[in-house]
Amino acid sequence: ATIHDQKLNRGEGGELHQVAAGSTPVLTTAQGGPVTDDQNSLKIGARGPTTLEDFHFREKIFHFDHERIPERVVHARGYGAHGYFETYESLAKYTRADIFQRAGEKTPAFVRFSTVAGNKGSADLARDVRGFAVKLYTREGNWDIVGNNIPVFFIQDAIKFPDLIHAAKAEPNSDFPQAQTAHDNFWDFISLTPESMHMIMWAMSDRAIPRSLRFMEGFGVHTFRLLNAKDESTFVKFLWKPKLGLQSVAWNEAVKINGADPDFHRRDLWDAIHAGNFPEWELQLQLFDQAFADSFDFDILDPTKLIPEEVLPPIAVGRLVLDRMPDNFFAETEQVAFMTQNVPPGVDFSNDPLLQGRNFSYLDTQIKRLGSTNFTHLPINAPKCPFHNFQQDGHMAMRNPVGRANYQPNSWDEGPRESPAKGFRSFAEVEAGPKARLRSETFADHYSQARQFYISQDPVEQGHIAAALTFELSKVQTPVIRERIVSHLLNIDDGLAGKVADALGLKAMPKPADAAVPTRRDLGALDSLSILKN
Ligand code: HEM
Repeated sequence: ATIHDQKLNRGEGGELHQVAAGSTPVLTTAQGGPVTDDQNSLKIGARGPTTLEDFHFREKIFHFDHERIPERVVHARGYGAHGYFETYESLAKYTRADIFQRAGEKTPAFVRFSTVAGNKGSADLARDVRGFAVKLYTREGNWDIVGNNIPVFFIQDAIKFPDLIHAAKAEPNSDFPQAQTAHDNFWDFISLTPESMHMIMWAMSDRAIPRSLRFMEGFGVHTFRLLNAKDESTFVKFLWKPKLGLQSVAWNEAVKINGADPDFHRRDLWDAIHAGNFPEWELQLQLFDQAFADSFDFDILDPTKLIPEEVLPPIAVGRLVLDRMPDNFFAETEQVAFMTQNVPPGVDFSNDPLLQGRNFSYLDTQIKRLGSTNFTHLPINAPKCPFHNFQQDGHMAMRNPVGRANYQPNSWDEGPRESPAKGFRSFAEVEAGPKARLRSETFADHYSQARQFYISQDPVEQGHIAAALTFELSKVQTPVIRERIVSHLLNIDDGLAGKVADALGLKAMPKPADAAVPTRRDLGALDSLSILKN
């Protein structure tokens, strides 16, 4: 159609539309100006130079030039879907969070699954941790449970996060390799960071190569608190259990799938949801009090430890159903901004030093990545409940205070007011101690739960862990790094250490790594972890 064929039609609401001949709308510039010719730039003569005057061409190219935003500094490759969370029954006894007050209550949700180390264009089946980030649009604001598919983490203090991620991602001089091939930097860091051993057992297991996003568990990792109407606290761990069960692929399958279809996981989720096979997870909670926390063998603030489900059986409190793919990947999956500090009244943090650091990091990273303090104005990040505040201006402001008052208190009876009754309240924990860079002695046992995980695996799965460690370490060029890892394995399981050392052709078995607290080896009680006996 040319401009001459266009006419103005009125829509249902009386608004004017430009329509081309036929039923398609007229192509316009971003300013709404109708475009005559989108195939040829404006030239002097058919073969002449292109003019600067061609505002349509300039706008089109300039906009294209700015299409990319920085990828996430971690978890760059991800795939999201919409759905809802349905509460099974009231949890008012434990929490005043509105989402848990009424049985059958449905809360809109958006979930983004991701790999951690690979770039945005990397392959889906890399051996890696998977992000499992859930945004719940509650009636009291957005609640983000920003978790992973593994219940523990590599490090105990957020100050180590940049080092962990630098070591895991591409090396600064070569810019390779990525997640699925091992390299000296990563294993060097791990070998010097014994607290990572429990997580390493999980990462070398089949858990790190899921068959599908639909067959994955999710974990909030940290201990949080629930607070009821009387501000009484119950500690809580969040777990997502897939209704389809847990399934992984073997490493040789993962390598082939990555080669044949690097989009395997996202295609699987897209196909399932479009076919009406909506994946579903149950939200389960491990609830416990201060007395349990004090009696437990490990520090419940240590994110390298879990609370075994045999010791503290989780209770199911609701289900998450994913039933709709985003209309636009960029607008929704790429621009969604998860933040651990987004919690509703009735949910609170613990002093886990990894969580405390995350609560700082995510706001900072969203402002950097999305380019404006107004990233909550994007529809995917905006609350779906009423919200009012005096924030104003900034880049791309879509919302500004209405009326005269943009502050409070004011004499104009305008604008919102805080509410001690409805608002977020922190648990009034009493804190005292020297101001110092410390790590608690209660965080010092790095091997018992690593061993517990290893012995919980069946012989085939144990074989996969040994094979994964052998494969990864065989890519490490520096002998001392291989030896250091084996010296840690000796504190976990002799058989595993022996298999890996043999397969790597180590000439002599290294000594077990120093353990800051007695390990099971030192105690001579290799089969009777007290947490398993409970
Ligand atoms: C992104 C989980 C530790 C900083 C993410 C995402 C997940 C996640 C799932 C992707 C969110 C999305 O899909 O958009 C976790 C878990 C951790 C952990 C489970 C430990 C238990 C940390 C720590 C820091 C950190 C310690 C920093 C101190 C970040 C940053 C992003 C991110 C900067 C990128 C966010 C974005 O640009 O959207 N994390 N993370 N994470 N995480 Fe973490």
